[in-house]
Amino acid sequence: MATFNLLLLPGDGIGVETMVEVERIIDFFNRSGRATFNTQSDLVGGAAYDAHGVAITDAAMDKAQKADAVIFGSVGGPKWADVPYAVRPEAGLLRLRKDLGLFANLRPAICYPALADASSLKRELVEGLDIMIVRELTGGVYFCEPKEIVTLENGEKRAIDTQIYTTSEIERIAKAAFDLARKRGNKVHSAEKHNVMRTGVLWKEVVTEVHRSYAPDVQLEHILADNCAMQLVRNPKQFDVIVTDNLFGDVLSDEAAMATGSLGMLPSASLGAVDAATGKRKALYEPVHGSAPDIAGKGLANPIATIASFGMALRYSCDMGAEADLLDQAIAGVLAAGYRTGDIMQSGMKQVGTAEMGGAILDELKKLA
Ligand code: NAI
Ligand code: MG
Repeated sequence: MATFNLLLLPGDGIGVETMVEVERIIDFFNRSGRATFNTQSDLVGGAAYDAHGVAITDAAMDKAQKADAVIFGSVGGPKWADVPYAVRPEAGLLRLRKDLGLFANLRPAICYPALADASSLKRELVEGLDIMIVRELTGGVYFCEPKEIVTLENGEKRAIDTQIYTTSEIERIAKAAFDLARKRGNKVHSAEKHNVMRTGVLWKEVVTEVHRSYAPDVQLEHILADNCAMQLVRNPKQFDVIVTDNLFGDVLSDEAAMATGSLGMLPSASLGAVDAATGKRKALYEPVHGSAPDIAGKGLANPIATIASFGMALRYSCDMGAEADLLDQAIAGVLAAGYRTGDIMQSGMKQVGTAEMGGAILDELKKLA
């Protein structure tokens, strides 16, 4: 039986509550003999700051480096508004991304049939929607230098951000997208702005080149990022995988997410390079939402985003696609049966808290497995 080492980092706020529901599901998979998950836990974010004065300790980083996958809850909150910038809660997540080299951010936008009416788009546009945005996460305009605000001689200020992408940075994200497409709908849209950006010209060139070893089974279409934004609300089901840079990916993934309803439903994965020797890759899985201080500690948070993030870990770090499918079916089943946390509540449905939603998913999983 395959054995996997997981590091659980619940963090702050609702992350602590939603991670409990993931642990129950891990426990179920362990008992049912489908795999052996060895779990360790540690502190991150405000919780780590309170205990150690840093957003993540070197010891926790060491565990993350050794783990097959990190499952992350959420960090931050008003309690830590005034802590020094370098040790603010978010710094823990940024260090994990940087030190683990997590360059590929996978953001699915899946619309569960039971929630199609909660979308801001019409039911027929989103019912059955299943797209994956692959965002470059460690390069581009958020990180490149120079990055500054300078005061000019005339007293005016000038702000500079810089976008740089190299061939190898584009190649590895393109490969990640094409590999993924092969396991899904075999279609990739590459979004950039080669009409006005030099990084867009190189992006298009390199993605085209990488595609040669995936053709003809995987289709590639180039799309201007602004058109992509329009198409995502006009006819989102035309997409399977969208690969794009850090900045466009930030915006497009949030846009696509809204087709699916609540923040409480949205998982994500961040993947590093495949190690040639072991065939393994560093990976971190986390809900898209934050620590939700407004509802933290009340047992109200929707645990689905964190549970579905663990589902992505099953699929992408453990080669357990069948179990990931079962978990997705369990979530869909519970939603179809009318269970709703407050964030996705609709009239006539059964409102439940975090533990009840987690328990219902676990029960459904037991029935399906
Ligand atoms: P947020 O995602 O924490 O909350 C936004 C709204 O959505 C709130 O009304 C919240 O109650 C609701 N919500 C979010 N997740 C939910 C869930 N699972 N179930 C039910 N309702 C849910 O974003 P916000 O309020 O902007 O940030 C709060 C804190 O979280 C801040 O300190 C922020 O820096 C941090 N944050 C952390 C992230 C992370 O850990 N990756 C990501 C985003 C924000
Ligand atoms: Mg964003």
